[in-house]
Amino acid sequence: MISAIWAEDEQGVIGVDGRLPWSLPGELAHFKKTTFHQAILMGRKTFEGMNKRVLPGRTTIIMTRDADYKVEDNDNVLVFNHREAVIDWYRAQDKITAKDLYIIGGAEIFSAFDGCFDRLYRTVVHGNFEGDTHFPENIQLGQFSELSSVDYPSDEDNDYAFTVKVYEYKR
Ligand SMILES: NC(=O)c1ccc[n+]([C@@H]2O[C@H](COP(=O)([O-])OP(=O)(O)OC[C@H]3O[C@@H](n4cnc5c(N)ncnc54)[C@H](OP(=O)(O)O)[C@@H]3O)[C@@H](O)[C@H]2O)c1
Repeated sequence: MISAIWAEDEQGVIGVDGRLPWSLPGELAHFKKTTFHQAILMGRKTFEGMNKRVLPGRTTIIMTRDADYKVEDNDNVLVFNHREAVIDWYRAQDKITAKDLYIIGGAEIFSAFDGCFDRLYRTVVHGNFEGDTHFPENIQLGQFSELSSVDYPSDEDNDYAFTVKVYEYKR
């Protein structure tokens, strides 16, 4: 299964200055639980916005058009230059150990994989933030059916309430 997973504010903002606009440990816990032991794919800018920190317990795929891009000292990181190379890798996995693929952003990468998603994991953060990156409008939520919607209130660790929605592509 290929899924997109992201968090946006009520205006669709997903990023500012190369990073997330908010700090929400509860949302990160949802992200970790969903993607753990699977494969995550991100754009080079998102990876560098995380100071090239590789998230543990997951196969990490970085997308860049730079054929010489290297990530040092990590066997769990793959670098691909074309969407088709990612799809070939995904389909060629051993059936027993095959990982689901989670496209984790940013905006350019979500756009590049439009049309590939079986599922969407969309968090809406209930606030309005300054931002320079928005979730791409070409990805039409109307093509998907909502499977679940769970509300998380704000608390001492999370300044904003958020809602996690899961959608499935309408076949
Ligand atoms: N809220 C969320 O859930 C969330 C999730 C992820 C990211 N973000 C935020 O989004 C922002 C970054 O998003 P962004 O759109 O600017 O950048 P991005 O999608 O993270 O990365 C863009 C880069 O990916 C590579 N790329 C894009 N399309 C490609 C293709 N078809 N083939 C090969 N490589 C390709 C290029 O790398 P090269 O330039 O090296 O060729 C491009 O510059 C940050 O603020 C980040 O924090 C938010």
